[in-house]
Amino acid sequence: STTSTWSGRFTEPVSELVKRYTASVFFDRRMALQDIRGSLAHARMLAQQNIIAAADLAAIERGMERIRGEIERGEFNWNLDDEDVHLNIEKRLTALVGDAGKRLHTGRSRNDQVATDIRLWLRDTIDAIDGLLADFIRALIDTAEQHAATPLPGFTHLQVAQPITFGHHLLAYVEMMRRDRERFADCRRRTNRLPLGAAALAGTTFPIDREFVAEQLGFEAVCENSLDAVSDRDFAIEFTAAASLVMVHLSRLSEELILWMSPRVGFIDLADRFTTGSSIMPQKKNPDVPELARGKSGRVFGHLMGLLTLMKGQPLAYNKDNQEDKEPLFDTADTLIDTLRVFAEMVPGIKVKPEAMRAALKQGYATATDLADYLVKKGLPFRDAHEAVARAVQAAEKRGCDLADLTLAELQAFSKLIGEEVFAVLTVEGSLAARDHIGGTAPVQVRAAIARLRKSL
Ligand code: ARG
Repeated sequence: STTSTWSGRFTEPVSELVKRYTASVFFDRRMALQDIRGSLAHARMLAQQNIIAAADLAAIERGMERIRGEIERGEFNWNLDDEDVHLNIEKRLTALVGDAGKRLHTGRSRNDQVATDIRLWLRDTIDAIDGLLADFIRALIDTAEQHAATPLPGFTHLQVAQPITFGHHLLAYVEMMRRDRERFADCRRRTNRLPLGAAALAGTTFPIDREFVAEQLGFEAVCENSLDAVSDRDFAIEFTAAASLVMVHLSRLSEELILWMSPRVGFIDLADRFTTGSSIMPQKKNPDVPELARGKSGRVFGHLMGLLTLMKGQPLAYNKDNQEDKEPLFDTADTLIDTLRVFAEMVPGIKVKPEAMRAALKQGYATATDLADYLVKKGLPFRDAHEAVARAVQAAEKRGCDLADLTLAELQAFSKLIGEEVFAVLTVEGSLAARDHIGGTAPVQVRAAIARLRKSL
């Protein structure tokens, strides 16, 4: 097209460079179907309120149906001259149905239009992410169930701390993902409000019915203030913050998978289809997928910072700055969705190596706390028990053996209270079974947690 939408106001055409600089169609066309949905709801409201004729509405509906088909078949001719998704569709509509197309924008601005499109798009995206989080949780639970009683050392400071089960460890990630789902659900409530009707910033002189539009589009309510409606991007920031937290969680899991797969640890192996080789070292099998996920967390955090910075200096109401909200938002969603998909598939392929986990438990005196607790139960104050066991550990270390390898007589040198039954306390299984309360690592508790989780899914 040669004349732009607002050419009447200007004495010269916009420069080619500026046209390209200000255009957004090459990324915001991703919201084309949401744009059509929003326009149809708006047009129906205009007709219902007698702002446009029924014949105009019919023409708009017919034109939009055609445009939807063109877009879905990849036949739509996206044009840089028409700047963004909104003007591209409106121009095409007018070419198809004439004056009715020109009437569509009555009582509306691209400012409330774009805010509506993003919210519709994000609502669908949040629903898709929620489903993927549920899939990933299911995968974690299934693997946790197989390993509800598989012992490995739990670490603090990356030093052997106490025995835990692999299932218990995985359920920690399930808790994180459950909170993530709650955060998205909460963000969805605030996203699910209708900006349309705010027009450019102040509302419109036409007798519109915003509730009718909200209902048609499945919004829970309308945005209550027109200035806020066109300039609020909190929901996008909240979404990116929630996505950032998921990526933090996935990055921590990635770090563990990478560490566990290192031959120096050797707790797990990843399925070959999730690993890659080296172009030079023939022996290599690298955990590229978790490494990439750990790396991709950085770009999502970057988008969060980008969006916060985008908003902080903007006076009310709409400013063109807001056009910069889309690429970070889209990339955040794409990155998160891809990563969740990969993880939901990767987890069932984790090959656990229980012998290596058990061997690691033999080093590091993982049941030292159990011995101290045992002495406390015999009446020794905890601080004294701690000291007695610390000396026993020192002696075992000098001998290069585990606590359970010391003889009863040797152990009794550190406390007279120690009896024959101590050896049951010092076993990994005894240690695990003893932590028998909600949130504890006892296999019965892990299984109970899994049962509760399955019910809640
Ligand atoms: N492409 C614009 C955006 O993404 C649409 C709204 C433009 N409004 C305006 N007054 N320039 O924000």
